[in-house]
Amino acid sequence: MISSSDYNSIMREYGELQRISRAERDARVEEVYAGIPRIRELDESRGSIALQLVRRGGDPAEAYEKLRKEKEELLEAAGFPADYMEPRYVCADCRDTGYAGGQKCHCLKAREIKLLYAQSHIDKLLESENFAALDPSVYSEPEHMARVVRYCREYADDFGMDPAGDRETLQQKASVGKESGGTENGACTAAVSQAAAEGKETGGTAPGTVTLAASQVSDGAQDNGGDKKPAAGVRRHRENVLFTGNTGVGKTFLCNCIAKAVMEKNHSVIYLTAIELFDAMAKAQIRGDANMKNLYEKLMECELLVIDDLGSELNNSLTNSNLFFLINHRLQKRLATIISTNLNMEHIRDIYSERISSRVKSSYDIIPLIGKDIRLRK
Ligand SMILES: Nc1ncnc2c1ncn2[C@@H]1O[C@H](COP(=O)(O)OP(=O)(O)OP(=O)(O)O)[C@@H](O)[C@H]1O
Ligand SMILES: [Mg+2]
Repeated sequence: MISSSDYNSIMREYGELQRISRAERDARVEEVYAGIPRIRELDESRGSIALQLVRRGGDPAEAYEKLRKEKEELLEAAGFPADYMEPRYVCADCRDTGYAGGQKCHCLKAREIKLLYAQSHIDKLLESENFAALDPSVYSEPEHMARVVRYCREYADDFGMDPAGDRETLQQKASVGKESGGTENGACTAAVSQAAAEGKETGGTAPGTVTLAASQVSDGAQDNGGDKKPAAGVRRHRENVLFTGNTGVGKTFLCNCIAKAVMEKNHSVIYLTAIELFDAMAKAQIRGDANMKNLYEKLMECELLVIDDLGSELNNSLTNSNLFFLINHRLQKRLATIISTNLNMEHIRDIYSERISSRVKSSYDIIPLIGKDIRLRK
């Protein structure tokens, strides 16, 4: 959702559109009156003329229709389009009010999305990096990456539909996730974790190992485990994701795919590289920079925050404490965060802190991306 001040500014734009269309219509009306005085007459005495027609036994609707026709003929005879005196709206469906039939008009939704895009910091990039542009043939580990892509699509589809605190337990499907694809440095080993599938902490995994839970990359079939409740229509997952993998495996691309899809569902998304993020936070805190303060507030309240390339920043105690604060704040508020990084969990613990790594382990879906550097394969 956009903030209320952004909503109000969109509504002011609608007000302005209405004012312009009224002013333009008034000018056209004056032009017609000047050229065809009979039309002014008809308009000014519309009520009484219609009344006379009705008195002569006509029905009011017919009477008005007759007048409308006469006006139309006069206009056309003078070379004006029949609707020349009607208001012209940018959106005829809602007459530039933003609402049609008690619902948000498509044009209001589009305006909101446009604003969300602009706020996301990646509006340009999203033109080229999105699910429609995703090419599965770039992956050197197609099976694993197909599951990851499916996970990403489901994440975006389900976004905003997972009620807080109501996660279904999904039984891992025996047929999937039985793989362990190592990356060149062995940092990211895909392994099935029942604990993760059940939404528990994945703390039992060996250090340096990230877990790709079977349920997280399932083939999409719904399974509620041992209990016989019908499967929920919506696949449950954590709202937070850590994409980890070597350089060039496609982490940023998938973050962008999700960001775009989530934005198109009308949710607020902010994308920042870790360098930009820590820079913005520091500028807001230390220098009190107004723009950065505004961004800082959005970091704390946007529905999805994407932090790309965590670990690429120059790490210090301020970046550490800011990362902790941000992660913790967003977890408490149940706001979704996606992090992409070349680091594994062990690195994250060592570089940042146990407090950060334990929160990530317990509250994030940790999704390893594996394969060769796509930049070199292209
Ligand atoms: N599925 C895909 N289809 C088409 N192009 C892709 C796909 N995945 C990645 N790419 C392209 O491959 C290149 C590398 O991908 P990306 O930048 O996402 O890697 P990365 O894992 O974020 O790397 P780094 O760790 O260096 O940031 C980019 O140019 C990206 O646009
Ligand atoms: Mg990247």
